[in-house]
Amino acid sequence: MDWKLDRTAKKPLYKQLAEYIENGITDGTFPPDKPLPSERNLAKEFNINRSTVVTAYDELEANGLIQRNRGVGTTISKDIWGITKKRIPSWNRYIEAGSFLPNLPVTQKIRQQSVEGQLINLASGELSEDLFPVKALRKITSTRSFIGSLGYDHPLGNAILRETITKHVKEFRKIETNPSSILITSGAQQALYLVVQCLLKPGDAVVLEEPSYHYSLPIFKSAGIKTYFLPVDKDGINPEDLVLLHKKHRIRMIFLNPVFQNPTGTLLSENRKREILRISSEYGIPVVEDDPYSLTAFSGEKMLALKSLDLNGNVLYISSLSKIVASGLRIGWIIGPKPVIERLSDAKQQIDFGHASYNQWIANDFLESEEFHAHIKNLVEKLKIRRNQIVTSLQCYLKNQVDFFIPEGGIHIWCKIKRDFNEMELLEESIKRGVIYAPGNTMGSQKGFVRFTFARENEGTIHEGIRRFSDAFHAIE
Ligand SMILES: Cc1ncc(COP(=O)(O)O)c(C=O)c1O
Repeated sequence: MDWKLDRTAKKPLYKQLAEYIENGITDGTFPPDKPLPSERNLAKEFNINRSTVVTAYDELEANGLIQRNRGVGTTISKDIWGITKKRIPSWNRYIEAGSFLPNLPVTQKIRQQSVEGQLINLASGELSEDLFPVKALRKITSTRSFIGSLGYDHPLGNAILRETITKHVKEFRKIETNPSSILITSGAQQALYLVVQCLLKPGDAVVLEEPSYHYSLPIFKSAGIKTYFLPVDKDGINPEDLVLLHKKHRIRMIFLNPVFQNPTGTLLSENRKREILRISSEYGIPVVEDDPYSLTAFSGEKMLALKSLDLNGNVLYISSLSKIVASGLRIGWIIGPKPVIERLSDAKQQIDFGHASYNQWIANDFLESEEFHAHIKNLVEKLKIRRNQIVTSLQCYLKNQVDFFIPEGGIHIWCKIKRDFNEMELLEESIKRGVIYAPGNTMGSQKGFVRFTFARENEGTIHEGIRRFSDAFHAIE
């Protein structure tokens, strides 16, 4: 046999073997009426453990390609070649061939545990059920007369909601805009995706914060964008670094999360905001301001938006209701120069023909309601209590072991672990003990950091979660 395993490849040996057999089934190397090679023979032939062959055969069996028959050995599934002559497509090859990259396996694992697990969840960047304004939303849905346009809505999103967002960003963010410069998106995430897909091309260089919001990282990779990272200190990124990077790599776009940054919780200082805008104007580099957290300032203060200082249209401003109302509504928006918004809107039409009208009506009515302000006040108070709790719990269980910045808003706390440790081992050990968090290396960060989110759990479970994390941390010493 000519085919060989590649022992230097990242792909596990069992996967390589499973693919080889799958290809052989498809191209007739392994005829349908003959048994497949035995596990022992394959192990001998490729000089691998028999357990590797067993895992490869397990995978092929789970995909319905082969069957194991007592006494006869392993054969090609009858459903493919046998009586019915049905062919199952080689899904694995399709899955791996797509140009849209999957999330990192560790990110997928955390996501799966967050959705399905019974763990204390200090990983998921969302509010707990009791922080959603359920009563007010119920009132809206029970009294709202949903008669009217149930067809496809305006390509930019519901006109009344865009009017409301125009007022909302003026009140809370001092941003002057108008409804035709706003596109309603499926959360801030879709806005980021549209920007990358429509305004950048493969090979373009962009600046991201280091560390930064991890669910946006694969979007750049999939689009073939070159990412350069600038470290975030307690005042955000340093504008001087930006100029140096631009001179070296011709930066096409800057992505920032300037207020209560995910994951560090820091604020980009006013001086730096002004300086970044100046650089943006001098070199003609657009800035994307991703701003889902600014209404969560524990002081109740209104935070300065880059977009509010932007007189020339250099900034694309993105926000959403996910962190202040409910992530399940999937309401986000992007504000920018009209031609840009129209370009993004055209792409959004190709993707989904616009956002669900029900959600837009609910979002509109809630933003317009008397309850909105009271809800934000209550939300911020509760988040502050939880922030205080996590700080207390970290000091209680991990004093002298971690350093952290105490955020004045947002939902994340970013901790540096003061000793060397194995990131995967700590995560596995924590999951075993019933707590999940986001390891720093999923956020483009150097080793040695973890992110805890304090919005999804209450004070009691936050404390217990940190206790379990501390147990895991000490167990791997
Ligand atoms: C900085 C940042 N941007 C964007 C998003 C995406 O949020 P959504 O799509 O739910 O609005 C998140 C979510 O955690 C975030 O932290």
